[in-house]
Amino acid sequence: MVDKRISLRAFERDDVRELHRWMNDPESLRLVGRAPVTYEEALRHYEKKKQSGDLVLAIVGEGKPLVGWIFLKDIEHEHGRAGIGILLAPESRGSGYGRLAMEQMIDLGFRQLRLHKIYLTTRSINERAIQLYTRLGFVTEGRLRQHAYVDGAYSDTLFMGLLSEEWHHKD
Ligand SMILES: CC(C)(COP(=O)(O)OP(=O)(O)OC[C@H]1O[C@@H](n2cnc3c(N)ncnc32)[C@H](O)[C@@H]1OP(=O)(O)O)[C@@H](O)C(=O)NCCC(=O)NCCS
Repeated sequence: MVDKRISLRAFERDDVRELHRWMNDPESLRLVGRAPVTYEEALRHYEKKKQSGDLVLAIVGEGKPLVGWIFLKDIEHEHGRAGIGILLAPESRGSGYGRLAMEQMIDLGFRQLRLHKIYLTTRSINERAIQLYTRLGFVTEGRLRQHAYVDGAYSDTLFMGLLSEEWHHKD
């Protein structure tokens, strides 16, 4: 599973040190988090995902051992669907890693796990993420009004979905 610039590997317990740093970055807190977390809380977050059967992978860049994590969660084979989530290290954002990692994970979901639908939620203030998801083909299926409280204001949450027949990955 190797792209020109990134590869995905299993996310290991030792990687949680980095995850802890990313989770506490101010932009992460504003766009995905709630409040700062301890290392033990970050570790529990990771372990809970593994125990519940989420597919949790580390994103490896060229010459960079760890630039982020990406996961498929709530995998429901009966319905052929799963949620997707991604968090990059602050210093690795804005370089295209997000798109490459999402493409590989979506490919894995549709072509290995035989999913029919991959979906996600994102805060409406997260313009970069929405731009990325839209470019990948995700469609906004719903808008949860004033669903998150961020920096003293309510923000809508978007529900976005991508169907397998809508996925046209270039080999
Ligand atoms: C969201 C995230 C995965 C995106 O990955 P990335 O590699 O940083 O993505 P990029 O910076 O290359 O940007 C993706 C697209 O958004 C555009 N973009 C960048 N900043 C933007 C902004 N402020 N407003 C609108 N669009 C923006 C880029 O131009 C690019 O679009 P293009 O391909 O049409 O040129 C990554 O930034 C991240 O982990 N952010 C913090 C956590 C997070 O928000 N996770 C998602 C939660 S739903």
